[in-house]
Amino acid sequence: MKAIYPGSFDPITFGHMDVINRCLDKFDHLIIAVLNNQMKKQLFTVDERIKLIQDNYNNDSRVQIVSFNGLLVNFCREQKVDLVVRGIRNIQDFEFESQLARLNRSLYPNLDTFFLFAEGDFSFVSSSFIKDIASFYGDVSNFVPKNVQNELENKYRRVDNGCK
Ligand code: PNS
Repeated sequence: MKAIYPGSFDPITFGHMDVINRCLDKFDHLIIAVLNNQMKKQLFTVDERIKLIQDNYNNDSRVQIVSFNGLLVNFCREQKVDLVVRGIRNIQDFEFESQLARLNRSLYPNLDTFFLFAEGDFSFVSSSFIKDIASFYGDVSNFVPKNVQNELENKYRRVDNGCK
């Protein structure tokens, strides 16, 4: 069984990795689909976001990491996959995700969304909060893998030096 795990992944966190690892127990193949939306201001480019994920799943042939743009349902059709996975951390996620899942299903009636509830330790981890902490040189080592930690340090060091 094949599933698509879409997201911005700006950057990938231990919360995302928990979802990915649990998916790999259930599905034969997982496509991690990184949204490439020029309209959305991201800290990392789409290539950087893909590399940060890839470095953590290098040796796993079940994982494919690609970018997509436009509607998720169109990407799912192209890939001939009718199963999407999303993580839920709290009630706000639940409200947003249930709307998104229903909307996507109305656009692609075969499409189902599977939800994984975040483990307690990851229920408060978000890419946005992590960027905020890193921008003030806080410790993000409990929330992101080492390669992401290093790249966050590089990004904010460069911004601080004025050379971006
Ligand atoms: O990690 P995120 O930012 O919560 O992921 C959101 C994502 C990428 C799953 C969602 O924004 C998405 O699917 N975007 C593609 C455009 C789309 O299909 N939108 C839904 C209909 S409005």
